[in-house]
Amino acid sequence: MRIITTESYQEMSLEATKIVAGQVYLKPTSVLGLATGSTPEGLYDNLVAVHRTIGLDFSEVTTFNLDEYIGMAPENPQSYHYFMHKHFFDLVNVRPENIFIPDGCAEDVPAACKAYDKLIREKGGIDLQVLGIGRNAHIGFNEPDVKFEATTHKVKLDDETIQANARFFEDEEAVPRYAISMGIKTIMLARHVILLASGPEKAEAVKKAVCGSVSPAAPASILQLHQDVTVIVDREAASMLPEEYQHGAHEIF
Ligand code: GLP
Repeated sequence: MRIITTESYQEMSLEATKIVAGQVYLKPTSVLGLATGSTPEGLYDNLVAVHRTIGLDFSEVTTFNLDEYIGMAPENPQSYHYFMHKHFFDLVNVRPENIFIPDGCAEDVPAACKAYDKLIREKGGIDLQVLGIGRNAHIGFNEPDVKFEATTHKVKLDDETIQANARFFEDEEAVPRYAISMGIKTIMLARHVILLASGPEKAEAVKKAVCGSVSPAAPASILQLHQDVTVIVDREAASMLPEEYQHGAHEIF
């Protein structure tokens, strides 16, 4: 695990952009695992800028998103489908047929989950997975006490997650209670993972992810056992880490 602590959200986004853009340049047929949430918005803005200014080409890239709310139609502005099209897919040249997002409206959810993992395997596996982190250290929608061996599956959202995500909805009642999420095993099979976090409300989750015990109580802690993870945080999100990790780049183990 490597940690890069930056001075600001903008710098965090820039570091992530270098990694994702570098991946796509070096392997134009890359399979990217993508995340939603406020955290990666700066990354997507930068990738769009790199596409427009120097022609970063996404035409051979395949993408798999981490999660989607159950019961949410793709055209619903609160859906992760909508988010991804608005912030990224509609602004670059990823081919529609190469975009995959869990189907929140699937009639047979277990079958849809199984098919999703199968498709990831058939496309050669995820080269680079982008992650945000929840305040309770969830990744994707893998909430505390998740089974580490789970692949893509239906999850029940924690009250804390429902409260945190209520800002995107009219009120807390409107937040879906269930989602489909890539499982921890699906995430751990990615060849390289980058985890982004910004702001003081993520400091505790980052501490658990980077130096807490590896435990399903803090799902992101499993990343300590991944062979190629880069954690990119701003100073506020790093504020509860040991002093030496609060500036610059470090190889942790
Ligand atoms: C959601 C998503 C996660 C995301 C997290 C943090 O629950 N399922 O993938 O990382 O929230 O979101 P934000 O970046 O908005 O803080």
